[in-house]
Amino acid sequence: MDPSRITSVAEARRLAARAVPRALFDYVDGAADDELTRARNEAAFRAVGFRPRMAAAAGEPRLGIELFGRALSLPVLLAPCGLVTALHPDGAAGVARAARSRRTVAVLSAVAGASPERVAASLGGGDRPLWYQLYAPGGRAEWEPLIDRAAAAGYEVLMVTVDTPALGNRERDRRNGFTGSMRVRPRGAVRLAGQVAARPGWALRMGRSALADRRNPDPGGPTVGLVAAGGSPFTWDDIAAMADRWDGPVVVKGVLGAADARCALDAGAGGIVVSNHGGRQLDGAPATLDVLPDVVAEVARSVPVLLDSGVRRGSDVVKAMAMGAAAVLVGRPYLYALAVAGTAGVERLLDVLRADLTRTLTLLGCPGVDDLDLDWLDTGPPAAG
Ligand SMILES: Cc1cc2nc3c(=O)[nH]c(=O)nc-3n(C[C@H](O)[C@H](O)[C@H](O)COP(=O)(O)O)c2cc1C
Repeated sequence: MDPSRITSVAEARRLAARAVPRALFDYVDGAADDELTRARNEAAFRAVGFRPRMAAAAGEPRLGIELFGRALSLPVLLAPCGLVTALHPDGAAGVARAARSRRTVAVLSAVAGASPERVAASLGGGDRPLWYQLYAPGGRAEWEPLIDRAAAAGYEVLMVTVDTPALGNRERDRRNGFTGSMRVRPRGAVRLAGQVAARPGWALRMGRSALADRRNPDPGGPTVGLVAAGGSPFTWDDIAAMADRWDGPVVVKGVLGAADARCALDAGAGGIVVSNHGGRQLDGAPATLDVLPDVVAEVARSVPVLLDSGVRRGSDVVKAMAMGAAAVLVGRPYLYALAVAGTAGVERLLDVLRADLTRTLTLLGCPGVDDLDLDWLDTGPPAAG
């Protein structure tokens, strides 16, 4: 599909629903249980307004940031996501190329469906913004060799996801006949076959790519067997041991409060991602924007605090950064775009978010993301008393 048809995240979502089989769209779009936390994430952004200033700033606002010594052209990173290879043949390597071409970072999920070596090699020579996200259902015996492989392949930052000691209850996936390990039950297979037949473009692209993969198999194979019902439990001792072993920043993803932010810092984390996994894990967990101020206060600028879950527009990026986030990550927005138009779709999505961010800052009268603070926000009437 023509990537220029992506004009917003909402439009990318609408187009994605028509591009891939329904069960795959549901896997991306869905969340846990009643999807309350997923709804809360977006509602929390809507509840915050702006306090614009007029006739103040001139020229293009500054969007660039520096994160772990790397200059990024915008404060939006691509979150680690499993099974990206099923959405479009461009897969995880295509996402990494899109991020590099827009001078940002894509974090490779341990269950993306492509090995860290293959994705690193696909970027060829030159600058390689490589971050690796770890799951290790098998504990230390599994994570030690995995992080050594990621280091040898040139990954700079290790992101450890701590909110998946078990897999969330994704009811859409159950309805579609997927088991916890994302295998399809026989009844689901029949329905899936019908859905695939209804998306011949996707089926043809994926079929061709499966043949090409056979001729040129990924030597590292997928890194971790899918995180099945057992999940990937980690302890703070594991994080401390990883921080000792990994020669670079270890970023802890999935923190939702000051106490856990403190545990992460004590374990040697070099960064924190305030995340509820896009509402896909514990339904009823708080919206990330609501807990961000507590985490930022606890961390007190000692390490960067990033945020994800519910970021859909440039204005959301501005709100999170005004509340102290160093940058944000997006998950579903780029997955929709990948499903629509592969690498070009992800590039287009990043361009749309960049334009959105530029427009929001210009209308706000703010000269750059580095100027953002709470004074730019309207967070509601002051408490009485
Ligand atoms: C389809 C899908 C797969 C995901 N897989 C992973 C994963 O493998 N590892 C991980 O840490 N987070 C995973 N996440 C969570 C994302 O990294 C991120 O936290 C979340 O998508 C942010 O919310 P958003 O989708 O509202 O932007 C996944 C999210 C989606 C939508």
